[in-house]
Amino acid sequence: MGQDLEKILVTEEQIKARQREMAAEIDATYAGKDLLLVGVLKGAVMVMADLARELHNPCGMDWMAVSSYGAGTTSSGVVRIIKDLDCDIKDRNVLIVEDVIDSGLTLSWLVGNLKSRGPASVEICTMVRKPLAFDVELDISCVGFDLPNEFIVGYGLDYAEHYRNLPFIGTLAPHVYQG
Ligand code: PRP
Ligand code: MN
Ligand code: MG
Repeated sequence: MGQDLEKILVTEEQIKARQREMAAEIDATYAGKDLLLVGVLKGAVMVMADLARELHNPCGMDWMAVSSYGAGTTSSGVVRIIKDLDCDIKDRNVLIVEDVIDSGLTLSWLVGNLKSRGPASVEICTMVRKPLAFDVELDISCVGFDLPNEFIVGYGLDYAEHYRNLPFIGTLAPHVYQG
């Protein structure tokens, strides 16, 4: 796996440290409130598991799996629910947890979809934000790291379903995706 990577952008220690700060913010924001974390499968598995354990206040955890379909590798903004939430979010405070926001199209759709269910609030927390995300009108309350538009993997982020299990975030060597 080592030769597939170009460089490490965020180390495991940096992820942990930033996550503690994010968790403190979330604890403060939702103190005394009913909080439901909604993780977006599969990329958000790592951040969801780690962030939730850094929280001091109790919270619920649920999952959605969505798929953007359309041509190519870029997200089309047309989203289909593969696995819906198990619970009703009416009057609950929802915090969507993502590994990365790239075009922002997945989340734009998801926020709209969840808001139509009558929650008390819907906010977004992501470990990584890419520059394109600024082109979309999205209220992101919590960002781990702003990273450049490079081919990044690790800590949940995949390339063709690989590298999610890396404990750090790094860039992929060009020979991997150029064949
Ligand atoms: C990735 C990532 C985000 C989404 C971001 O998920 O985990 O959910 O794309 O892209 P966008 O901002 O351009 O919409 P993906 O659809 O690859 O599924 P995965 O989480 O299973 O890897
Ligand atoms: Mn995802
Ligand atoms: Mg993916």
